[in-house]
Amino acid sequence: MSHRSGIIENDISAYLNAQAEKSFLRFITCGSVDDGKSTLIGRLLYDSKMIFEDQLAALENESKKHGTQGQNIDFALLVDGLAAEREQGITIDVAYRFFTTDKRKFIVADTPGHEQYTRNMATGASTADLAVLMIDARKGILTQTKRHSFIVSLLGIKNIVLAINKLDLVDFNQEIFEQINQEYREFASELGFDEIVSIPISALAGDNILENSENTPWYSGPTLMEHLETVEISSEQNDFFFRLPVQWVNRPNHEFRGFSGNISSGSVSVGDEIIALPSLRTSIVKSIIGTKGKKNSAETGEAITLCLVDEIDISRGDVIANVNDRPEVTDQFQAHIIWMHDDDMLPGRPYLFKTTNKTIEGVITELKYKVNVNSLEHESSKILKLNEVGLVNINLGEPIGFDAFNNNKVLGSFIIIDKFTNNTVACGMINFGLRRASNIHWQAVDVNKESRAKQKHQKPKVLWFTGLSGSGKSTIANLVEKKLHAMGNHTYLLDGDNVRHGLNKDLGFTDVDRVENIRRIGEVAHLMVDSGLIVLTAFISPFRAERQMVRKMMGDGEFIEIFVDTPLEVCEQRDIKGLYKKARAGQLKNFTGIDSSYEVPQIAEIHVNTVDNSANEVAEFIIGKLMA
Ligand code: ADX
Repeated sequence: MSHRSGIIENDISAYLNAQAEKSFLRFITCGSVDDGKSTLIGRLLYDSKMIFEDQLAALENESKKHGTQGQNIDFALLVDGLAAEREQGITIDVAYRFFTTDKRKFIVADTPGHEQYTRNMATGASTADLAVLMIDARKGILTQTKRHSFIVSLLGIKNIVLAINKLDLVDFNQEIFEQINQEYREFASELGFDEIVSIPISALAGDNILENSENTPWYSGPTLMEHLETVEISSEQNDFFFRLPVQWVNRPNHEFRGFSGNISSGSVSVGDEIIALPSLRTSIVKSIIGTKGKKNSAETGEAITLCLVDEIDISRGDVIANVNDRPEVTDQFQAHIIWMHDDDMLPGRPYLFKTTNKTIEGVITELKYKVNVNSLEHESSKILKLNEVGLVNINLGEPIGFDAFNNNKVLGSFIIIDKFTNNTVACGMINFGLRRASNIHWQAVDVNKESRAKQKHQKPKVLWFTGLSGSGKSTIANLVEKKLHAMGNHTYLLDGDNVRHGLNKDLGFTDVDRVENIRRIGEVAHLMVDSGLIVLTAFISPFRAERQMVRKMMGDGEFIEIFVDTPLEVCEQRDIKGLYKKARAGQLKNFTGIDSSYEVPQIAEIHVNTVDNSANEVAEFIIGKLMA
């Protein structure tokens, strides 16, 4: 490697020690290719001599072949390393690069600037302490500058460098620099940054990158590198409350029980009074074991095992905190989320929410608004699409200990995971807990499901029919109900078309509305089962996630999924309501099987075939299965 430092040649261990003791700065660069972002990073790598010899030779060659700088080195080529990027002329992923100077070590996240890469930018920004926003001095503040500023502010970055680039192309004009600087500060005043430092640069020519430029005598601030080497990151000072997310409970034998994890903020000492969340049990720190053995105290970033004076119940994913500055506990909170997946975010759909060390099922109960990332205006919407940002209310299956993201990035953030594909679909930042849930209690009643069921001499359950429109759900459910009724059972049939005349008449057939349709039916069916009834439902219920959600609402063995498996061609041929014809003609949008999906059940208790059997035969078959 061509990192030349005298100390390397003379005393390698002194060099390595010096490296280990240097502080780390993680930053992100934002801007588009045209702004000179890649050129800037290339220059930082080159000037800090963090380029391998072979890379350097290749770079010199490539510069002559593909470069835009004649016989000179084209630094952008060093960064835009991927062939696909070179062909498209854009950077497509998050590239993390490491470089070091005598004063500090750096990791720079290089992310593409286009709106369709907002999720990449969010990923890069999520681990950064500072953002370098590239501005082309000829163009000034652009829509994308605003978008990038918003995203980095959302992810809790407090330190901004406005790298006003290409100043050589405007004759190093101070007025232009000042004007951009001023305009940006006005715009950013709402975004909650702690520090904005504007630096006039030319990434290409090297002005004010490492050395003060003679071309900007009017500028007395630091060079870019000086600033990066010395800037103090405010978050380092802010996170002083002790938080230990428990990664595992260490219990090798009966004598020893310790709670292990990385201290995400603050410090802890032997004798401190702590509280465990969400249980709210308290105790006192008996001992602290670090990587090198017992110690009296430990601080942010350290991996420790904590032993307590009392035997209190703490499990993986719980949080241990100082009793005087404790996180909140809630199962409902408001958060900003950035949607990162092609499948839309649907309120009411169950997702997995992964906080520090815990994964919990929950739903987004409400999308309050989405933010137009370009204008920062709030817009009403029912869903979020890929790369959209929204403010939402979230309801988790169980309470968690959390801090607002603004106070603690670790305890205030989470990711959302699709339950079926295991894909990460969003990242989120908690604003505050919602108190509503804790003020509403479950009222105990004396006459319960068991006593009601006993009186009716039956086991309450739901027979959940699912299948395409025209598959025969309603017809078969009707026959099954008749038979059950004749046998003396107490039943109720909830039918799609009928329920959409009343309870759900406000809902249409978009994905969002279908999710809400099934959620409501699930709740109603749940109440009916609680009243001791055998409930039959006939809804397309096209999505696995919601069918599973209803299944989970019911007790063991109470949810019987019946897949009425009639092929689309057959349903379309029957077309009793003439709706398939309309849908094919384009007069009916979002029709299941045509331009809206149906997810085939994978775990249905009963699977019926209506092609080779009459409706009555199918109904008899179902009754037989139920009896068995
Ligand atoms: S679900 O998808 O939300 O479960 P639901 O079972 O309530 O649907 O309603 C389906 C019935 O509504 C169909 O049987 C059909 O008669 C009617 N319908 C009207 N428009 C549509 C549509 N776009 N897609 C499916 N069914 C529709």
